[in-house]
Amino acid sequence: MSAGPTSETRTIVPPPLTEMLATLRARHALVANGGGAGMRERHETRGKIMVRERIDLLLDAQTPFLELSPLAAWGLYGNEVPGAGIVTGIGVVSGRACMLIANDATVKGGSFFAETVRKHLRAQEIAEEHRLPCLYLVDCGGAFLPEQDRVFPDRDHFGGSFYNQCRMSAAGIPQISLVFGGCTAGGAYIPALSDEVIMVKGTGRIHLGAPPIVKAAIHEIVDGETLGGAEMHTQVSGVSDHLVETEMEGLAKLREIVGSLGEIGRLGPSPYPSVPPRLDAAELEQIVPTDLRRPYDVREVIARIVDDCSFNAFKPDYGATLVTGFARIHGYAVGIIANNGVLFSESALKGAHFIELCDQRQIPLIFLQNITGFMVGTAAERGGIAKHSAKLVYAVSNARVPKYTVLIGGSYGAGNYGMCGRGFRPRFLFSWPNARIATMSPEVAANVVTELRRQSLKGAADKAAIADLDRRTRAQFEEQSDPYYATARLWDDGIIEPAQTRDVLGLCLSLAAGEARDTSPRPVYRM
Ligand code: COA
Repeated sequence: MSAGPTSETRTIVPPPLTEMLATLRARHALVANGGGAGMRERHETRGKIMVRERIDLLLDAQTPFLELSPLAAWGLYGNEVPGAGIVTGIGVVSGRACMLIANDATVKGGSFFAETVRKHLRAQEIAEEHRLPCLYLVDCGGAFLPEQDRVFPDRDHFGGSFYNQCRMSAAGIPQISLVFGGCTAGGAYIPALSDEVIMVKGTGRIHLGAPPIVKAAIHEIVDGETLGGAEMHTQVSGVSDHLVETEMEGLAKLREIVGSLGEIGRLGPSPYPSVPPRLDAAELEQIVPTDLRRPYDVREVIARIVDDCSFNAFKPDYGATLVTGFARIHGYAVGIIANNGVLFSESALKGAHFIELCDQRQIPLIFLQNITGFMVGTAAERGGIAKHSAKLVYAVSNARVPKYTVLIGGSYGAGNYGMCGRGFRPRFLFSWPNARIATMSPEVAANVVTELRRQSLKGAADKAAIADLDRRTRAQFEEQSDPYYATARLWDDGIIEPAQTRDVLGLCLSLAAGEARDTSPRPVYRM
């Protein structure tokens, strides 16, 4: 899997970071419009509030909202499912950090595509890991029927979200629903499986089968309000616990309910005061090259993320292509592991040693990934790179402290594994807009694939066919390593701006800060 260092030229020269940031902001603005002006008008004519405005109204004033994967489903389905039709994120409601999971009814009636399910499940996973109350703002037509085979039957499909709801509730993590619109089938189970339910009169509806299904199944003709209206469910069936006249009243009721939840979700102050970096994070736009072949010193990035630019480097004179050291972010102690070149055996050993130290000292780990892979070649293999790189992967896998990963550049090959890629369960994983993620770079992939073809053709290779294969492989790897391709498929928790990294990590660290830790002895072997 290791790509190793490459000296080939990239065929596509990436634009500078400033241009990439403009693209990112434009795309975020586009998806924030939901289903577009026409759908917005129809939604508002019905007296309904847009999903992001509902969230703004729900959150405590002057508190941040960490939206997750806003560009899910980007570029898929003809770009007609912005944000995958759902908004998820962490925000503060009545003084408690909560996970918000909110359907956007202006996008295909808030129905679930494969990426909607992934986004919903990922939000629940984060909520469960951090014991965050889940607030469901429900406005959902259930499974998007043309895509039902990618949404309904498997373990990590729609059913999995209900399993999560039941398990979280039983584990004492509150599950609360506020129903704004027509909730059918799976959409109905979100409130039905909640601990407490509020319904908005006139627009909120819950039915396992919508009127067309009822007609098809039992030939009964009934209107939606009679079948599953808010009054019926609050006064007759008991599916709902609170009836409210308006959405605003519903949001106020939800805040009141969260306010009486006890201590869950309450965050304590950071152990140390937060000291801003002395260097301006906006300078990262100039410092970080988007051409991944151009080296730069990752300590310039670290300095603009950590408190007071203060970084206590660990083993700086050994395995220098991996920078390791201690710092604080918004007053929380962290161990930082950042790439500064290809990973050699020495860098891998140092990384494993450092991870063990942080684990022993119960210091959360931050991985800043910009890696082509581990070193390849005879000298590296004879030096045991397979064994030494495996030690890093082993240490990452078994670290008990919370881990956070930011892709600040390339994320290639086994470097992705050793630097805590998604498979290694970081609590959160964010990308910068210049990130690239794949088994290897397009240049290396084209060389590998064409060489394999040449070998299988045993010398009879047709030059034109090989050139075509080269072109197609490059195009495939260019497309698939694009960060928007990745974020569309929920391989990360969102693309963030470099200058936001410190605040995003600070918020993530605060969520895990009060957790009980596994303090059973674990030695440091100095790998
Ligand atoms: N599957 C496929 N498409 C769906 C859908 C679903 N579950 N739910 C909504 N849509 C589509 C509609 O076809 C429409 O598509 P279009 O804009 O391309 O015409 C769009 O989403 C908006 O739906 P619409 O009915 O116009 O919106 P609404 O606000 O009046 O009503 C619902 C929203 C969710 C109440 C209503 O669409 C509904 O009841 N959907 C069907 C629910 C259902 O039977 N689900 C079973 C899932 S197992």
